[in-house]
Amino acid sequence: MTTSIKTAVLPIAGIGTRFLPATKAVPKEMLPIVDRPLIQYAIDEAVEAGINNFVFVVGDHNQGILETHFGTVKNLEKTLKERGKQNELEIISATSKGINSLDFVTQDEPLGLGHAVWCARDYIKNSPFAVILPDDLVQAKPGCMAQMVDVFNNHGGNIVAVEDVPREQTNKYGILDVSNDDGRIATAKGLVEKPNPADAPSTLSIIGRYILDPEVLKYLELKQKGAGNEIQLTDAIAATINTVEFRGLRFSGRRFDCGSKSGFVLANAAFALARGDIDPDFAQMLKSLVK
Ligand code: UTP
Repeated sequence: MTTSIKTAVLPIAGIGTRFLPATKAVPKEMLPIVDRPLIQYAIDEAVEAGINNFVFVVGDHNQGILETHFGTVKNLEKTLKERGKQNELEIISATSKGINSLDFVTQDEPLGLGHAVWCARDYIKNSPFAVILPDDLVQAKPGCMAQMVDVFNNHGGNIVAVEDVPREQTNKYGILDVSNDDGRIATAKGLVEKPNPADAPSTLSIIGRYILDPEVLKYLELKQKGAGNEIQLTDAIAATINTVEFRGLRFSGRRFDCGSKSGFVLANAAFALARGDIDPDFAQMLKSLVK
C-alpha cells in the first residue's frame, strides 16, 4: 500500500496496573496473543498500511525487552542454525520485517496519552502521522490501519477508527459529536473525552487508531490537562476541528480491548480459532469449556 503516512507513534509508557503481576517485569505490549506479543500485531498492521518508521514512547522500564524483540538475538540464532530449525529462524527474523527505523523516546512521567504523543514530536516534524495503541487489537482484513490510510488518501484530515458502544459505557471513551454520517464514515464537529452517558453527543467511540495532522502538536505543546487530570489526545484533536477536518471510520473487523483481562483472553481465543494451525480440535475444546 502506498501512503504519505510514513511514521507511527506507539505510546507504551503506561504501567499496566490491570495485568499485575504479569506486567511487573514484562511490559503489557509484550504479552502474547497466541504466540506473538501485542506489539508485533501493531507493527505488522502498520507495515501492511505502508508505514515503516516507528517511534516507541516508553517508560524507563520497557525499552530493553523491546530492543531485544525487534533486534537480533545472536545466541538464539546460532542454536537454531545448529539444530537446522529454518522455520523458527525465519519466525525470529520476521519480527523486524518492514521496519525502516525504530526509535525510542522516554516519557518521564505518565501524564496522559496526549503527552506521550507530544514526546515523539521531533520524529513527526511536519507530516501527518499515525498513532497506534497496541492494547487495542483489531482482527481485520485488510487491517484497520490500511482501511484508515485508504480513507486518508481520499479525504486527508484527522481520522480515527470508531465503533458504537453501549450508551452506559461512553464514560470510558472519547466520543464523537457527529455532523454527518454515511454509515461508514462519520464527520464530526466535536469530540468529548469520557462523557457521562446522559451528556454523550453520540455512542461512537474512538479506539486506539489515529491518523493525525501535525497541527495537533501545537495544542499538545500547551500541556493542558483534561479528563482524569491527564493531557488528553482527544482534547488536542477537538481543538483543531475547525482547521483540520475530522472523520471517524467505522472499520470493518473486530476490536479486542487487550488492556482488560476479558478482552485479552477473548482475543487469544479468537486469534487461535482464526489461525487454524494451533490444534484441529481447538474449536471443539473451546466449546466443551463453555458447556
Ligand atoms: P491505559 O489507560 O491502558 O494505561 O493506557 P496503562 O498504564 O497502559 O494500563 P492500566 O490502565 O494501568 O492497566 C492506554 C495506552 O496509552 C499509553 C499506555 O501505555 C497504553 O498503550 N499511555 C498512557 C502512555 O504511553 N502514557 C501515558 O501517560 C498514558
